[in-house]
Amino acid sequence: KGEPLIDPFGRTISYLRVSVTDRCDFRCVYCMSENMTFLPKSEVLSLEELDTLCSAFVAKGVRKLRITGGEPLVRRDVMTLFRNLGRHLESGALEELTLTSNGSQLHRFADELAAIGVRRVNVSIDTLDPEKFERITRWGKLDKVLRGLEAAQKAGLHVKINTVALKGINEDEISSMVDWCGRHGHDLCLIETMPLGDIDGDRTDQYLPLSMVRARLAQDWTLQDTDYKTGGPARYTLVKETGQRLGFITPMTHNFCESCNRVRLTCTGTLYMCLGQEDAADLRAPLRADPSGRALDQAIDEAIGRKPKGHDFIIDRRRSAPAVGRHMSVTGG
Ligand code: GTP
Ligand code: 5AD
Ligand code: SF4
Repeated sequence: KGEPLIDPFGRTISYLRVSVTDRCDFRCVYCMSENMTFLPKSEVLSLEELDTLCSAFVAKGVRKLRITGGEPLVRRDVMTLFRNLGRHLESGALEELTLTSNGSQLHRFADELAAIGVRRVNVSIDTLDPEKFERITRWGKLDKVLRGLEAAQKAGLHVKINTVALKGINEDEISSMVDWCGRHGHDLCLIETMPLGDIDGDRTDQYLPLSMVRARLAQDWTLQDTDYKTGGPARYTLVKETGQRLGFITPMTHNFCESCNRVRLTCTGTLYMCLGQEDAADLRAPLRADPSGRALDQAIDEAIGRKPKGHDFIIDRRRSAPAVGRHMSVTGG
């Protein structure tokens, strides 16, 4: 077993996010343009290769693995990867194997995910109005996602809803989402929109600082501070009236890079050390060149050795290009 992964700022890397496909069956307006081009399938690593990469990180002390996309559940046969990675839960090497999903396929996979040892799932829902949902996702059907949530709950999976706060789009609904999540037993995380990749239109128009949202919510709800931690970037409060947690993910207004514990792997084997930086390391070449795994181990160590201090996202009307050229779906957020 190798040395744990510690970056130049003394942060231990214990959380790997893996985007198993850049494809998605939705096209959320803040995430993608309508006519996105996706990677050719030939560029995408096999599930065996992704397993080898994930396992190398687990051997180096990663305790939490989150499968993301794009939409991870649209990748063909993705359950094979989950099933195989489940062995690290059984051995105790891994504390958590989980996923972030748009929920569209969750009704099909919830039972099997639970059987493999997944305990929680994060599902993105930005509105509870079916027509608005169709507009935001460009064609998604809310009822299918809600069926997925029911299946997840029935299977015993804990659900966290992710909602990107969007100015003029869902800001009027956030208080009722707190209520809805409360009644359904889901936690809720609000997210500030981040400038990643081109979309149709200007993201600045959608940006809503969560400090404002929180102040408004505090008029309707009693928000109690908690020290609940998942290893993710959210700061959580407890909504006294509902008993559910409400988290705030505020990369723009309240940067949390100081306590960063994560890196991101793409489906082509590229490792991004920070969501908000372009620097990356290629792990595919060492993976394929050296079956002993030594070259891969070395490449991982080198990459962690240059993890930057943090992102430099800013929302700026005068700067037309997004801070980072790639979309969230490439690195899975
Ligand atoms: P938990 O394990 O439930 O805490 O999940 P999580 O919040 O780590 O993961 P999730 O996939 O639900 O991500 C929620 C949002 O947080 C997404 O929009 C991510 O892009 C964002 N996020 C996660 N990590 C980082 C980070 O290091 N920097 C920034 N800026 N955003 C992040
Ligand atoms: N800024 C903030 N959140 C985003 N997501 C996708 N793109 C962006 C963006 N540009 C969200 C999705 C999902 C999570 C993984 O990231 O809604 O909940
Ligand atoms: Fe797909 Fe998620 Fe992006 Fe929406 S936010 S288009 S569901 S990857």
